[in-house]
Amino acid sequence: MAEEVLRNIGPIVLLGPPGAGKGTQSKRLSDRYGIPQISTGDLLRENVQRRTDLGIKAEAQMSRGELVPDNLVCDMVAWRLRDQDCERGFILDGFPRTAIQAAWLDAFLKHQVLENPKRHLCSPIVVRFDVDYNKLSLRLTGRRTCPTCGRIYNVHLQPPLVDEICDVDGTKLIIRDDDRYEVIQERLATYERQTMPVAEYYKKQGRLISVNADRPVDEVTAELFQDIENHETAPASGD
Ligand code: AP5
Repeated sequence: MAEEVLRNIGPIVLLGPPGAGKGTQSKRLSDRYGIPQISTGDLLRENVQRRTDLGIKAEAQMSRGELVPDNLVCDMVAWRLRDQDCERGFILDGFPRTAIQAAWLDAFLKHQVLENPKRHLCSPIVVRFDVDYNKLSLRLTGRRTCPTCGRIYNVHLQPPLVDEICDVDGTKLIIRDDDRYEVIQERLATYERQTMPVAEYYKKQGRLISVNADRPVDEVTAELFQDIENHETAPASGD
């Protein structure tokens, strides 16, 4: 196991438009650093599938490409972040997505450190993936996901070895409900309206790293590892 894997990494926040590669890169970061990927999109989809109260409340907004209300998402994240596997760090894939969620996260991390100083929760490393919008449609309409292991493919760009079948476990791949053209347009508009200001919030604090995600997956991964490993951690002060 590489030395880096054993280090306390703290929180990593991945920002970027739909299809930027947040999920793809989160899985690689999770493997390298041994910390969990927390995808709010995946958690919400699980809740929709299990017909939980949260899933029933979130379903309509998700199918329109709008954001689920902040209080529901923050409560869901709070539950997940208290799990023991988050002690050395975690990857937030798709959270925070609004100014309210970003302020909530700062306050939550600060409070967690005060409550349990053994937790290694410093200020997050915040990475924004920049991609040419013209490429996103191909990425999203071509996406296929394995419902068993979560591996992400693309029929145009990273196809599985056998059509529509996961290379890892042989499960039939699925298409996400919100990867339809009209919903993709709304998701992009929502990103611009509500999530771009989050990147500005972190930028003003000197906490934003921008990565050109318009390159082959391995190149983006290599840059991410470098940025994270060169990053100086700061306490969870929220300022
Ligand atoms: P969520 O599931 O988070 O979707 P998203 O942000 O729209 O992002 P995606 O999962 O579509 O894209 P990605 O960046 O992960 O790209 P991926 O790696 O898969 O959210 C869904 C919904 O849930 C939201 O609309 C909202 O309703 C709700 N929600 C979630 N979080 C919320 C929150 N915090 N607050 C409120 N509501 C929330 O890659 C995409 C494709 O591109 C794949 O096919 C992949 O193979 C390919 N690809 C990846 N990288 C590359 C590359 N470098 N080159 C070529 N192809 C690539």
